[in-house]
Amino acid sequence: MAYYTSNAEHPIDIVNIASLENRVKARMDRGAFGYIREGAEDEWTLRENTRAFNDLRIAPRVLQGIDHVDLSTSIFGIDLKTPIIEAPSAAHGLAHVKGEVDTAIGAAKAGTLFAMSTYGSTPVEEAAAAAPEAPQFFQLYMSKDDGFNEFLIKKAVKAGVKAIIMTVDSTLGGYREEDIVSHFQFPLPMPNLAAYSASDGVGKGISEIYAAAKQDFVPSDIAKVKDMSGLPVFVKGIQSPEDAIVAIQAGADGIWVSNHGGRQLDGGPASISVLPAIAKAVNHQVPVIFDSGVRRGQHVFKALASGADLVAIGRPVIYGLNLGGAEGVKSVFDHLNMELSITMQLAGTKTIEEIKKTTLL
Ligand SMILES: Cc1cc2nc3c(=O)[nH]c(=O)nc-3n(C[C@H](O)[C@H](O)[C@H](O)COP(=O)(O)O)c2cc1C
Repeated sequence: MAYYTSNAEHPIDIVNIASLENRVKARMDRGAFGYIREGAEDEWTLRENTRAFNDLRIAPRVLQGIDHVDLSTSIFGIDLKTPIIEAPSAAHGLAHVKGEVDTAIGAAKAGTLFAMSTYGSTPVEEAAAAAPEAPQFFQLYMSKDDGFNEFLIKKAVKAGVKAIIMTVDSTLGGYREEDIVSHFQFPLPMPNLAAYSASDGVGKGISEIYAAAKQDFVPSDIAKVKDMSGLPVFVKGIQSPEDAIVAIQAGADGIWVSNHGGRQLDGGPASISVLPAIAKAVNHQVPVIFDSGVRRGQHVFKALASGADLVAIGRPVIYGLNLGGAEGVKSVFDHLNMELSITMQLAGTKTIEEIKKTTLL
């Protein structure tokens, strides 16, 4: 059956990021919206991800002689206009006819990083070609078949991505009830899968897709992905200091602290609650990227002050894409950057490096 979605191409007015969810709900296919919005089981961890930022407080600072702030930063020598980047997420074709092409353009317009998912609706090389000047990472769901892993990694390297994000928290899908209620199955192909295998994902649920992926991850898989790609490898889905140390000892070039936006293990802590201990264990050996639950500029500030080098957003980008295409994606980053700038000014911090040195109350 044909799947219809947005073809909007314009900036969007945003009062706050949280309100985008209901705006998208009113206009998107019910099953697709449910798949994007939901968390696992009772969605406790999903809610806790955003709530737990309230356990941290930012000290207002005055008399600091600041009349403007600077959001620019860098990672692996890549300059970014903001510490807020896009988290890799599947199937942007659900949100917009142009899919990841528009997400990549929107992220580039915002001067930030786009991360392409293995399960995207666009071939990695097409998303890369849409914004050739902008940095992109590729997120890998390893397959059981190393032939496929090598094929896909080489495709991403050829497309020019600057790093591989190796997601290790999804050896199966969390128990997500909205998909059961709506009988959700992917209505659109996943061309990065189709390029190698007989199955393109159409008509499959997330559990079936994950079933073809690798379940038995071990630390030596990190070296395997490094060897296959020759690129820095971020390990995504780290939620404990112990696992961060194991990953670094196994060769990880970066740690990505995430609980997958509360979509995997319900009953686990908020991602922001575990960030400080992980950052302490990492102790600046490698960069730390943080995601899950970020909806305000002050959340970005708190994550940076808790040890993150960059902060990623998942659902807000997909909602911006649905509401306004590439310009809508840019609007989401612009809005969060505006809130972050206000927070920085009122907290007496002029630069991203100064936020990282800030102690929260
Ligand atoms: C609809 C959807 C699909 C996702 N697909 C992927 C994926 O393919 N690979 C991956 O590593 N993470 C995936 N994620 C997780 C995101 O990278 C990120 O960890 C999460 O969205 C952050 O939480 P937030 O949505 O609260 O910002 C997905 C998230 C959503 C909402």
